[in-house]
Amino acid sequence: TPPRVVVVGSANVDEVFAVQAIPAPGETILSHGVMTARGGKGQNQAVAAARAGASTAFVGCLGSDDFGRLTLAGLTEDSIDTDAVRVIEAPTGRALIAVEPGGENTIIVEAGANADVRIRPEDRAVIADADVLLAQLEIPIDSVVEAAVSARDSGTLVIVNAAPMAALPAALLDATDVLVVNELEAQQLRGATGVTNLLDLVPVVVLTLGSKGAILQRREKAPVEVPAPIVDVVDATGAGDTFCGALAVALAEGMPDAEALRFSVTAASLSVQRAGAVPSIPTRAEIATELDRIAD
Ligand code: RIB
Ligand code: NA
Repeated sequence: TPPRVVVVGSANVDEVFAVQAIPAPGETILSHGVMTARGGKGQNQAVAAARAGASTAFVGCLGSDDFGRLTLAGLTEDSIDTDAVRVIEAPTGRALIAVEPGGENTIIVEAGANADVRIRPEDRAVIADADVLLAQLEIPIDSVVEAAVSARDSGTLVIVNAAPMAALPAALLDATDVLVVNELEAQQLRGATGVTNLLDLVPVVVLTLGSKGAILQRREKAPVEVPAPIVDVVDATGAGDTFCGALAVALAEGMPDAEALRFSVTAASLSVQRAGAVPSIPTRAEIATELDRIAD
């Protein structure tokens, strides 16, 4: 049976503009292409987990508008359990994304309905049933804490992707098994907490290094590092989320650390070769084919 992953987080509709360079204050520029696509760190990670092979549930909030309906239909199409998705009288979350040549992006998020994500009793049951809880920080931090504590209390592995970076309450760090951060987030977190080693905060730290791959560190073990394959980056939007969703599946399946990291890095490297967040997230079959190709 496939592993069960529950993702608590945000869902947005992204407007992705291809630009030559981010405009300076007061400057007007023309884009050379725009796409509307499903996104939001929570939804992206849920889709990544589902496509990577997990039986996936999403706990989130959508608006009762066209963007909310588009999102709900998309989640269903990805076979994601949406029983814990609430539709409320608020606009669905949105993101304005500028992608520069080379794929680097700048993102502005309007939370909308995501600001109302809360953990209800029925959500706790979904969390208790899962092998892994995966959360990010694009929803109220109190809800992330509640989800994590609830997961910890019911023996569900807790993976927290500290993006976008926010102050992490002690209760959240205490309940976190695996913390996933990029280099900037790692630096911000060390600054905010005063530790020099993030392993002083949580038992497992996964550092994503963009085109350089990722490192997994466990307390009292040698770090495991996996480089990323060299690819043409079209759009890095959602690459970190794809990594997190795949990692949740890999760890839930009990893959050894190096294999789990290779699986997740490969999923992310496929996603950067395609535009948009959700449209770029690979399936298990695509990840397997790419892993075979790299091994040859
Ligand atoms: O991590 C990428 C995501 O960040 C985008 O899909 C956007 O919606 C923002 O949440
Ligand atoms: Na992408």
